[in-house]
Amino acid sequence: MENQKNTPANKLSIWINYLQGQNFRKTIHIIFYLIIPLALLGSLIFIQNYRLNSQFGEWAWQVLLLVLFIKPIVKIIARKELMWLLTYRRELGILCFYLAFAHLSGSIFNLKIYELKNYLPPNNFLFTGALASLLLIILYLTSNNFSMRFLKKNWKRVQYLSYLVLPLISAHQILLQKEAEDTIGLIALNIAFIILKILEYKKITLKFKKYDQESQSS
Ligand code: HEM
Repeated sequence: MENQKNTPANKLSIWINYLQGQNFRKTIHIIFYLIIPLALLGSLIFIQNYRLNSQFGEWAWQVLLLVLFIKPIVKIIARKELMWLLTYRRELGILCFYLAFAHLSGSIFNLKIYELKNYLPPNNFLFTGALASLLLIILYLTSNNFSMRFLKKNWKRVQYLSYLVLPLISAHQILLQKEAEDTIGLIALNIAFIILKILEYKKITLKFKKYDQESQSS
């Protein structure tokens, strides 16, 4: 009996239960909604470092990739043990918003982002970055339960805007005149996302069978 309790499968299911539980979610909320925003605010007020602002952009990008890729990957792998990851996408989306705004706030004055003429012609990194930021604001403002109830079916349509942030921030980085291999990597990433979304939409899974109702509703 004792041995049975210590099997890797049992240990894994204890961990999964913990990660899905209220206590862990509360801890995540305190870290994501209180500690991180305060730390970002503190760093913006007291540190004001260009390299750090650039790093915030890099982190916002990485969190964005996590939010966008997590769903198709989990749905394609179609393992029940991974489905809990989907329930943390809202928190990750909000984290992405905070990091993106910590990143761009460093450029408010030195790039004069409040002057419209700086966005023209629109094929500059500022235009794509600002457009993506606008979409992130909409997504952030509609990320709560009230908006979900208010917008009903349209809520999902609004959330689809997040897909546009991927090509916009890819363009933001490409227009910053990065190395050629970075450009190829960013284009490949966008193509990979489209392929994964098609596989998800077609309900193609690694188990080659339709996954159960329970996972579909998440
Ligand atoms: C008005 C909005 C924005 C402005 C003014 C802005 C400004 C900048 C600037 C000046 C850089 C160059 C930093 C450097 O020299 O290393 C940069 C890079 C970058 N930005 Fe933005 N940005 C904006 C929005 C965003 C958003 C919304 C994201 C992500 C969600 C983002 C992600 C990045 C990334 C990943 C880099 C490359 C960082 C690196 O290579 O180290 N930016 N941005």
